[in-house]
Amino acid sequence: MDHLYNRLSQLASSYGQEHLLRYYETLSESSKSKLLRQIEQIDFAAIAGLSWHAREAANPDKAISGAITPIEAYDAAAFGEQEREHFIRKGWELLRQGKVGAFVVAGGQGSRLGHEGPKGTYDIGLPSGKSLFQLQAERLLNVSRRAGRPIPWYVMTSPDNERETVQFFESSGYFGYAKEDIFFFRQNVLPALDPDGRIVLSAKDEIAMAPSGNGDAFRSAKQSGALADMRRRGVEWVFYYNVDNALIQIADPLFVGIAAHYNHPIATKVAEKSHPEEKVGILCLRDGRPAVVEYTEVPKELMVETDRNGRLVYGLGNLSIHLFRADFMEEHAEADIAYHAAHKKIKSVNVEGEPVVPERPNAYKFERFIFDFFPLIERMTVLNIRREEEFAPVKNKDGEDSPESARRLLFDLHRRWLEQAGVPAHRLKGRDIEISPLVSYGGEGLTPSVCESLLG
Ligand code: UD1
Repeated sequence: MDHLYNRLSQLASSYGQEHLLRYYETLSESSKSKLLRQIEQIDFAAIAGLSWHAREAANPDKAISGAITPIEAYDAAAFGEQEREHFIRKGWELLRQGKVGAFVVAGGQGSRLGHEGPKGTYDIGLPSGKSLFQLQAERLLNVSRRAGRPIPWYVMTSPDNERETVQFFESSGYFGYAKEDIFFFRQNVLPALDPDGRIVLSAKDEIAMAPSGNGDAFRSAKQSGALADMRRRGVEWVFYYNVDNALIQIADPLFVGIAAHYNHPIATKVAEKSHPEEKVGILCLRDGRPAVVEYTEVPKELMVETDRNGRLVYGLGNLSIHLFRADFMEEHAEADIAYHAAHKKIKSVNVEGEPVVPERPNAYKFERFIFDFFPLIERMTVLNIRREEEFAPVKNKDGEDSPESARRLLFDLHRRWLEQAGVPAHRLKGRDIEISPLVSYGGEGLTPSVCESLLG
């Protein structure tokens, strides 16, 4: 261990990170080796590059780079009946041929929600008690059944939640999914840095690490063999989504068909923002290329700018629902996309070496964002959809984007399905009915007898 200590101590010092071993002599043998193992994992040269970002992010006057202009989108409601059917047929054809995979990013910490476990294990309080993962599994099972072919499901976790996530699936019998069709893989983590670029110790024997953002998804998929698995199965389109969207229409055949028809390497679904301050990124063009400006970075004047008709000029909200062509993912898996720094309250040791949670942001976390792959292409397919059918993010404990708002959106959607199926309004009055995704994915299959059994 002495040899390892000497080597790492020299290495850390050469990058101005010698404080990492400040408490080393006071530690037990097991803590010493734990700390050394963590230091060994650190790419000090890469961290040196990040510390520049930390200083840059600390500058409140930082201007947004590039010329931002609005982007064109297809309106999903404006397609003619024939065109729509053509796209849906095309989507089913690809699903039947096994050319579509599902990809959920579930490595985030979910700290805003205050839920201890992985976010996908969260029960949003539906009568069925189903977790977000179960809702997703059942929608996938529904589409798989109708396609006559399983949809491989790629689940990105992080070192923090991998074990718990896999255990949750195991103990739930994979929700009826075939185990071999689910591919779990783990994303990377990065240390937090203080404003001087020094790595933060969260305890005397521990470095403050955080997941490196969903933008590391392709790299992690490549390193873990998930991309190779897609290739082996002949997957051509990868349906990417956030773990926390309770209404996600995974592998939606219409979207698959539209993406394949236009055949740009990326397709995305957007929706009009509900209000200018809504916490969604905005899809736009940056220097003429597709891009998202994240809600944490969007300047106020862009956020509120309206046109002559009073509509937001930058009103297309990023829903984190994308289709990536698998060859694009392969080609760019290791692209060096930028890191974004976020100023956070990060547990760190005080002068006595005791861990404390600061009252104000004290350090920077670094994340790559998946949409920073967008500017690598010249054109992408943008589909403007109705948010109330497909977007119910669960981010906060209460209020906007909470379990309660997600439940409301789901009940309202299922009520509309039942109304469309001919159930008279008086039978629905005052009732919240949940329809299992195994029964209906998008309102189809609600025959009179199915409706009767749902109404009880
Ligand atoms: C995200 C989008 C935002 C969009 C919104 C829609 C990003 C960077 N921003 O914001 O533009 O409008 O969703 O709801 O994507 N994740 C990982 N690993 C990480 C970090 C995150 O897998 O290291 C996953 C999370 O588990 C989650 C998703 O990425 O499924 C989004 O992350 P989150 O931090 O919740 O992003 P938002 O702020 O909601």
